[in-house]
Amino acid sequence: MWGGRFAGGPSAIMREINASIPFDKRLWREDIEASKAHVAMLGRQGVLTASDAQAIAEGLDRVAAEYETNGVPEDWDLEDIHMTTESRLAELIGPVAGRLHTGRSRNDQVATDFKMWVDQAMWQAHDDLHRLQEALVKRAEEHADSIMPGFTHLQTAQPVTLGHHLMAYYEMFERDRSRFVSAAVRLGECPLGSAALAGTGYDLDREFTADLLGFAKGPTRNSLDAVSDRDFALDYLHAASTCAIHLSRLAEEFITWASQPFGFVQMPDTLSTGSSIMPQKKNPDAAELVRGHAGRIIGCATALMVTMKGLPLAYSKDMQDDKPPVFEAADLLTLCLAAMEGMVAGATFRTARMRQAAELGYATATDLADWLVTKADVPFREAHHITGALVRMAEERGCALDQLPLKDMQQVDPRIDASVFDALSVDASVAARKSFGGTAPDQVRARIAEAREALSMEDEE
Ligand code: ARG
Repeated sequence: MWGGRFAGGPSAIMREINASIPFDKRLWREDIEASKAHVAMLGRQGVLTASDAQAIAEGLDRVAAEYETNGVPEDWDLEDIHMTTESRLAELIGPVAGRLHTGRSRNDQVATDFKMWVDQAMWQAHDDLHRLQEALVKRAEEHADSIMPGFTHLQTAQPVTLGHHLMAYYEMFERDRSRFVSAAVRLGECPLGSAALAGTGYDLDREFTADLLGFAKGPTRNSLDAVSDRDFALDYLHAASTCAIHLSRLAEEFITWASQPFGFVQMPDTLSTGSSIMPQKKNPDAAELVRGHAGRIIGCATALMVTMKGLPLAYSKDMQDDKPPVFEAADLLTLCLAAMEGMVAGATFRTARMRQAAELGYATATDLADWLVTKADVPFREAHHITGALVRMAEERGCALDQLPLKDMQQVDPRIDASVFDALSVDASVAARKSFGGTAPDQVRARIAEAREALSMEDEE
């Protein structure tokens, strides 16, 4: 493409280090679409004759049809998807193909293609998250009353409901979804027509191409920025990383809950594996890989941030390295979201075991101390101490707090009376936490109803 300036061809090493076709061939649809928009605009503006513009557009359709059936050929000499397409176009329609690149550079071309691809990836993540949220809402609804221990420091703290716990993840994924949406909105300016870095002297209609390609905010306003901006890719990777962190935390909970000492959940067979030597094993591999893949997604975000941080304006070839981390993160995120949806939908929650863990973990000790304060007028510090003694007594007997006989409790503190039992059960504790956003089943059901509305899920009942 630039033979005029060069006495000899590139070395084998140069060809190899320079080639982006092995990965950027994934942009072929966007590349064809953007080229067709460009050539339609050139024809409309009279920069190209109508018949040349038409010949090029038809040729591009033929190239696209070939890619569709045979895939994109990988010739390192042609470097990237842009030159691969243009060279095939020339083979098909002859020298008029050379007019396609009028008033354009690969720099604005690749920025445009990549923005289009990333936009699609953002909406894909949005839709996948939506499905995962629907799965969470369904399971939360089933378990709005199922009691489990709530933890801090992974130590039993206070009883909560499983529905409440699952809806916590609904909230995280809701924020993730909004991050992808706002990033997609911000991305909406079209770089095409910025040319190499300075704009061009041809009479282009950049509004027209921006509109044709679905960029809602029109053309970019500074050609130097347009060809060297990869913020949209960083935005995607940041949103993907935060989402991956949430997925990883949920995966970690499933892994912990599935272990025998916890026994809170059985992961679906379809998303577990066995052991070749230990017949009893059922390992939560899908959850572990979601947790593992989160690390790789964060690695992709780090890779592109570090690539970009030292680059002067405008384009530098380092920026070709923008694509592998974005493609890798997108593939991993798609997989992780699907796997998590399957785990949430297919998990068997062992609610009796969860309830027992809340009871034997003395999760209502705070409620007992609060009872002493409000019903028996005991100062909180003293109530804390008395409660500690009662927990120790229950622990020694291996029973729940509400299984201690009243007379034994009264031996520890005579101010205790029978009404204490109203405060000691895990159900009473949960029902009492009815502040907005609290774990009381009525609160949880109200939040679930709002979530259903927000997701506009059909009522299946
Ligand atoms: N393959 C290149 C990339 O992905 C296309 C842009 C090349 N531009 C250039 N000035 N060499 O970034």
